[in-house]
This record gives sequence, structure tokens and C-alpha cells, in this order.
Amino acid sequence: MAATSSRHYHFQVIIALFFFLLNTLHCVWNCVTVAAADTTTTNVYIVYMGEKQQENPAAIVTSHHNMLATLLGSKEAAKNSILYSYKHGFSGFAASLSDSQAKAIADLPGVVLVFPNRIHKVHTTRSWDFLRLSPLPNSKSNLLTKAHMGDGTIIGVIDSGIWPESESFKDDGMDPIPLRWKGTCQTGQNFTSTNCNKKVIGARWFSSGYEKMFGPINTTEEYLSPRDKIGHGTHTASIAAGRFVPNASYKGLGRGLARGGAPLARLAIYKVAWYGESTDADELMAFDTAIHDGVDILSVSLGRKGGLPLQAFLEDGIAIGSFHAVEKGIPVVCSAGNDGPSSDTVGNTAPWIITVAATTIDRDFLSNITLANVTNLIIRHLYIINVIKAARLYIESIYNDACTEGSLNATLVKGKVVHCFAQPYSRRSAIEIAEVVERAGGVGVIYTQAHNDILTPCPIPCLKVDFEMGTNIHSYIRNASSPLVRSSQPQTVVGKKISPLVASSSSRGPNTLLPDVLKPDIAAPGVNILAAFPPIDGYPYEFQSGTSMACPHVAGVVALIKKLHRNWSPAAIKSAIMTTASRTGTDGLVILAQGGNLKPATPFDLGGGNINPMKVAYPGLIYDISTQNYIQFLCSKRYSEKQMATFTNRNDSCSRNKRLMSSLDLNLPSISIPYLENTVTVTRTVTNVGPVNSVYRAYVISPPGIGVKVEPHTLSFTASTKALSFKVTFNSTQKLQLMDYVFGFLTWTDKKHVVRIPLAVRVAHQYSSSQR
Ligand SMILES: *[C@@H]1O[C@H](CO)[C@@H](O)[C@H](O)[C@H]1NC(C)=O
Ligand SMILES: *[C@@H]1O[C@H](CO)[C@@H](O)[C@H](O)[C@H]1NC(C)=O
Ligand SMILES: *[C@@H]1O[C@H](CO)[C@@H](O)[C@H](O)[C@H]1NC(C)=O
Ligand SMILES: *[C@@H]1O[C@H](CO)[C@@H](O)[C@H](O)[C@H]1NC(C)=O
Ligand SMILES: *[C@@H]1O[C@H](CO)[C@@H](O)[C@H](O)[C@H]1NC(C)=O
Ligand SMILES: *[C@@H]1O[C@H](CO)[C@@H](O)[C@H](O)[C@H]1NC(C)=O
Ligand SMILES: *[C@@H]1O[C@H](CO)[C@@H](O)[C@H](O)[C@H]1NC(C)=O
Ligand SMILES: *[C@@H]1O[C@H](CO)[C@@H](O)[C@H](O)[C@H]1NC(C)=O
Repeated sequence: MAATSSRHYHFQVIIALFFFLLNTLHCVWNCVTVAAADTTTTNVYIVYMGEKQQENPAAIVTSHHNMLATLLGSKEAAKNSILYSYKHGFSGFAASLSDSQAKAIADLPGVVLVFPNRIHKVHTTRSWDFLRLSPLPNSKSNLLTKAHMGDGTIIGVIDSGIWPESESFKDDGMDPIPLRWKGTCQTGQNFTSTNCNKKVIGARWFSSGYEKMFGPINTTEEYLSPRDKIGHGTHTASIAAGRFVPNASYKGLGRGLARGGAPLARLAIYKVAWYGESTDADELMAFDTAIHDGVDILSVSLGRKGGLPLQAFLEDGIAIGSFHAVEKGIPVVCSAGNDGPSSDTVGNTAPWIITVAATTIDRDFLSNITLANVTNLIIRHLYIINVIKAARLYIESIYNDACTEGSLNATLVKGKVVHCFAQPYSRRSAIEIAEVVERAGGVGVIYTQAHNDILTPCPIPCLKVDFEMGTNIHSYIRNASSPLVRSSQPQTVVGKKISPLVASSSSRGPNTLLPDVLKPDIAAPGVNILAAFPPIDGYPYEFQSGTSMACPHVAGVVALIKKLHRNWSPAAIKSAIMTTASRTGTDGLVILAQGGNLKPATPFDLGGGNINPMKVAYPGLIYDISTQNYIQFLCSKRYSEKQMATFTNRNDSCSRNKRLMSSLDLNLPSISIPYLENTVTVTRTVTNVGPVNSVYRAYVISPPGIGVKVEPHTLSFTASTKALSFKVTFNSTQKLQLMDYVFGFLTWTDKKHVVRIPLAVRVAHQYSSSQR
């Protein structure tokens, strides 16, 4: 994996032997040394040093070189080894080290943790999914006007870069770049300083961590610059902050006004994803730089490649980078991942992150299909996956596990539409199926599949139907002597009064790393979103799906809230978003979750609910959290005092406060109790941000089988009483162990504001009962 050429290899061995001798002498005074013999293979490691010990960036870099020099023997070796010094938002560096060097450096004073550079990936499903529209429902929301469309706020997007020529990033009529902006426009392949403007005010790229692991970027397949090759970053940036672009569509579908959540917010682009993948080292550099540059919000649609297990917070680039951003008042919004509908799949689960699930919106692209010559034998609206003309088609039913390679007889399939019937557990995408059918000579596919949310651009006409419809088609084919099918031109159907659905692919809770932190936090549109794209195939707007698309919807709304409430902490903003979220659709029915049969969505599917931009700015009460609270929370976890002291640059951060709180008492706008034996009591504090004199009463929907008591039951706020605490006691007489989670809600209301948080409880005993 380490892409060292043999020349480089020899060079390193010689250097290593030289410094081995040097080190043995040096060791008389300072015995931090390693056996030189195993410096032959190096990997990229992140040496994370927590809070900065000083303000001067140059001095911090020098301190990194000095530290590494004590280990490697010389400043020059140290300089060669270091890929990045992190010096603005926090301290640390990424360097090429052998395993034993990495171990040795972990013991040096000032080091919190050393961890290997790991790979992340963009959170869109791979299949260039498309269809459906609307970056933000309710585009006429007051918030947009009141917040001046986010004018003046700066959204940092850590992603795959940007296509700056897109209409969505035009800057006409925009005010000058805010004076506080300290970022730069880094030129590179097909990217000049004129590619930045008053909309895209900064653009940078970081590839050292990626290239150290995988070799140089191939400049025929990627742009070695902020320019976006895969389109993911362009899409997410335009969802967060695209300008108004009338008459945007993909091949005529979804035609309408394309725009971002905060159309007048500025964009700062940090490209870290190459061919759709990124590494910790580059991401940390992006966070460090963004904090320095002066972004107000960060939108990060990336997550661990390969899903589980999740890395501990102090070993995860996104968790560390976001901690330091949040500490400096910069909210960080991340995608939850696309590994649903299985439970335990949610990623980016640190409590300071706003973790976003994906939902559908109230638009469809529908088509009628007609079986046999008899029109209307079956007429039903379908999700249609490709733009197809009305056509007369033959059908051939294949009902083993749906059209696997080699299962189709080309003689039978040639020139026909193939009906592929997936088994309920199948996760194969429609594009995969369509490619198999195409190779066998088929001209179209009807795909019967359970997971229905993600739609794909198939090489041949491709219709997706549910099991009921599929069974109907199947019976028809069995009975008819010469089955025929035809489909109509797809139409965009909008504004039906329907509830959103949690997308099947959206990752679900519980949080496997910290089950006492409920995740995801919030849901937002992420299915078949039309947004800006590199016009490689001639289409400047394309449909994409995934929590990657949901994340920048929330980032755009955060920009608007920030504009209205400059002093709100990231936790306060997250609280406002979660407690005002919708659990029902415009039809008043509860939001359902896809994945097998539709079922009412739980907080593990969508956190507080679907984001409600109409209400987020006026939540009434907020659950606030200070940096010190997060540190207390981490102290209650397994981190050592030395790690916490370095992490926070405060000796006493854990020792004094360790016992002040249980991790359940972190003041999150949610309560998750993974082990309820008899009784558990948690504390929360709410701060009044509504009318000064307000009286709130508590209403509880208890999780089934669980008793919930709130004390006090009434909270009276005045000019002198802004914040009040209360206790929530959960009890169960059930003795079952490791039962499933059950859910409820706690709502405070003064009749005008409804402040609701989700409750998740599991009746179970701790694995080790002595641990508490
Ligand atoms: C990138 O730049 C090269 C050389 O200037 C040019 O030939 C090429 O067309 C450019 N590609 C794009 C996509 O702009
Ligand atoms: C870079 O990519 C091009 C096009 O895919 C390929 O032809 C070329 O061999 C690659 N170069 C290297 C050095 O891998
Ligand atoms: C929208 O674009 C289409 C072509 O994509 C064009 O035919 C049509 O006239 C445009 N409509 C408006 C209102 O500009
Ligand atoms: C489907 O057919 C019905 C009845 O003929 C028609 O009203 C409707 O517009 C058609 N829908 C589409 C998407 O073609
Ligand atoms: C494919 O179907 C044709 C026609 O029914 C048949 O003659 C042929 O043997 C089949 N081929 C295979 C490989 O099964
Ligand atoms: C089967 O086909 C016959 C004749 O084509 C038709 O009359 C009958 O309704 C069909 N039955 C079903 C269940 O579709
Ligand atoms: C932490 O404690 C050590 C001695 O235990 C002391 O030298 C150091 O100055 C202290 N650091 C801070 C930031 O208080
Ligand atoms: C909870 O405790 C109360 C008072 O002790 C008791 O009345 C109630 O039955 C308990 N509820 C459950 C679900 O165990």
C-alpha cells in the first residue's frame, strides 16, 4: 500500500541507519528512540496534539519539527516525513512513520493520540442516481427573507471540489467579499484565480494524505486543483448555497427553479475527495484551514469507507476536526451514511456534529404502463428510472434472483423487455440489473424490488415497481401467450400532499460507538435531488441521492439561522433544528420509513424529525452545550487524563469535573438510555430564547412499557431566570434483557412554542454491572 519507489526505499534505509547511530549516542541524554530496522515500511499517521499550546503558527510548526526530530534524529528527516502541520484550529501533524515510530511518538508529552490515516468516501450512492427535485421545500419561507438569504455567511464545503462555471455559482449583484475572510483561491489544473468570485470566495485542495497512500493523482482522470471531477462537491455546494437558476432540469425532468438553502451565502471550497475518496490527513488539513479562513458553517458529506466499526472520536479526522470547529463556534453538519435500512449503521456520531438522515420529497416522476393490447389492463403510476419514449415492448419473466450474470438466455431475451423479480433481501441496484439485461440483448427492464427510493440512470429503459405490482405483472406474463408492455412518457408530478419517507438507504441508529448519544439528529431531503453538476455529458443539472444531499440542505438552513442569531452556539442551533422538526407530512400523517414494509419512522431513522425551515429560527427553548460540557462528556468515557489534558490544554479538565455528570447528562436535545435497569434519572437544562416571561409545561409520550416522570413539571422563565434544569426519571419493572429500543417524546410547550425531544430506551443490564 505504501507507494514508495525502490529508490525512495533505499534512501530511507540509509537515512535510518545513519540516525540509528546518531540516536544511540543521543540516547545518553534523551532515550526516546526506536529500533531503526523497522523504519523500512512507513504509513501515514496522524499525530493529534489537541488544543494549541500557543498562537503563533510558525512556532507551532517548529515545535512539530522539533518533536519529530527527537524521534527521527534530525530536523531534516522530520521535515521530509511531515505531510501537514495542523496549526490553526488545533495542533498536530500528519507524517510518514513506521509502526514503531508511531508507537514511540504516542508516548511523548503533548500527544493525545496517534492513529493511522484512514479512508473516507463521499456519501452518495455510487450509481449516479437521479430523478426528483427541489433543494428545499417551501421556498417562500419567511426565514429566507428574514435572513437575507444567508447574505454574508460563509459556508465551507469539504468535498470533491467545485465546477465554478455553473449558473448556480454566479456572483452578479452580490456584495463584496466579507473583509474578515482570510482564505485563498488556490490555482491548479484547469483552475485559475478567476474561477473564484464573490460567490465562491475561496477554493483549496489537499491531496498529500491520499497520494501518500495511493500514489500520485492521475491528471487525466482527476483535476489536481479545486475543480470537481465527479460532481459530488458541485452538487452539495449548490444545494447549500446555489443562486436562483430558473428553468433548470435534467433532460426536461424536474424543470423549475433550482436554488440552494441560502442563495446569498458565500462558499469556501476544500477539496479532499479524489475519485470519491478522502483520508483523515487531508480532511484534518481542510478543517484546520477552514477554521483559520473564517468559515461560519461546515458541510461535510463524507464518512467512513466500509462502515463499521466506528472509530473512537479521538481517532477520527472528522470527529476531531469538527470538535475544534464547534469549539470555535462553527457548526458542523455531516451526512449519516447510506448503509440503511439496517439498524446500527449511522456514522459521524460525535455529539457535537449535526448528523443528517435522508428523506424523500413530495415530487415524483411517474409513468403509466400498459400490459397487453388492452389499454389499461394495469394502469398505475410508477417510479420511472429512465427517460423513455412510449414504446411497444415484449416481456420475458425471469424470477430467480433477478437477472444475474449468465442467468439470461440471449436467444430468449433478445429484443425484449425483461421482468426481473428481486428477492426481498436483494440490495442490487437497478443499474446493475439493467446492465446484465442489456448485455444479454434485452431492450428494457421492469425491476420488482423492495428498496424503492434510489433511482438510477439505466443504459436501457428501466421501470421500477413494488412487489404487489410485480406479482401482478408476473401473473400476466404466465397467463398471456404473447405478453406485451408499453409505457408512457414520464411526467413530473409535484406538490401532492404526501408525507416524506425516510430513504431506505439512509443509515440508522442506534449509535454503535456511543449508544447514549441518539443519532441521527435530523432528516432532510436527500432523494433524487436536482442540483448543479459538471456538464460533462451536456447536462449542467443532475439528480443525485443520498445523505450527502441531505447534509447541505441542513447546512443551508444553519446559514440562515446563523444570520438571524449570530451568538447562538452550534449546540443551540442544533437544538433549534431538532426540537422544531416535523414528525408528520403536509398531509398530517406520520412520516414513514422505507426498508421492507413502510413503518412509522423512529428517532433512529430521522432523529428529531424532518427539518422544518419555517420554525427553526424561533424554537422558544434551547438545549445548549458548552465546550466544557463536551469535555466532561469525554472524561466520562475511556480517555485517559493525559489525553484529555492535552486535548484541552488544561490539566484539570477531567480530574476536577469527572464525577460531575454521567454521560447521559450531556445536554443534548434527545435522551438515549441504552441500559435501563429499574430506574435511571437524567438531567437537562433549557434556556429561554423566546418571550422573556414564559411558562412551559411538560408533556410526555412514554416509550411503551416504560414509566417517565419529569420534575419539575412546569418551568417559569423571567427576566432573571433564563435557564432552568429539570430531571427525567425512567423506570421499568420488566426484567427482560437486551430488549429492543422503544421510543417516546418529551415536549415542553408554552402554547406558542412546541419544544420536542425524542426519547429512546432499552431495558437491559450493563454487560459489566460493576462498571458504573
Ligand atoms: C483543461 O485544460 C486543458 C489545457 O488548458 C484543456 O485542453 C482542457 O480542455 C481543459 N479541460 C476542461 C474540462 O476544462
Ligand atoms: C491515467 O489514466 C489514463 C486514462 O484512464 C490512463 O490511460 C493512464 O494510463 C493513467 N496513467 C497512469 C500513470 O496510471
Ligand atoms: C426552458 O428551457 C427550455 C430548453 O431547455 C426552453 O425550450 C424553454 O423555452 C425555457 N423556458 C423558459 C421559460 O425560459
Ligand atoms: C396515466 O394515465 C391516466 C389515465 O389515462 C392519465 O390521466 C395520466 O395523466 C397518465 N399519467 C402519466 C404519468 O402518463
Ligand atoms: C436458450 O433458449 C433456446 C430457445 O428456447 C434454446 O434452444 C437454447 O437451448 C437455450 N440456451 C441455453 C443455453 O439454455
Ligand atoms: C388469462 O388469459 C385469458 C385469455 O388470454 C384471459 O381471458 C384471462 O382473463 C387471463 N387470466 C388472468 C388471471 O389474467
Ligand atoms: C500541568 O501540570 C504540569 C505539572 O504536573 C505543569 O508543569 C504544567 O505547567 C501544567 N499545565 C497547565 C496548562 O496548567
Ligand atoms: C414506575 O414507578 C412508579 C412509582 O414507583 C410505579 O407506580 C410504576 O408502575 C413504575 N412503572 C413501570 C413501567 O415500571
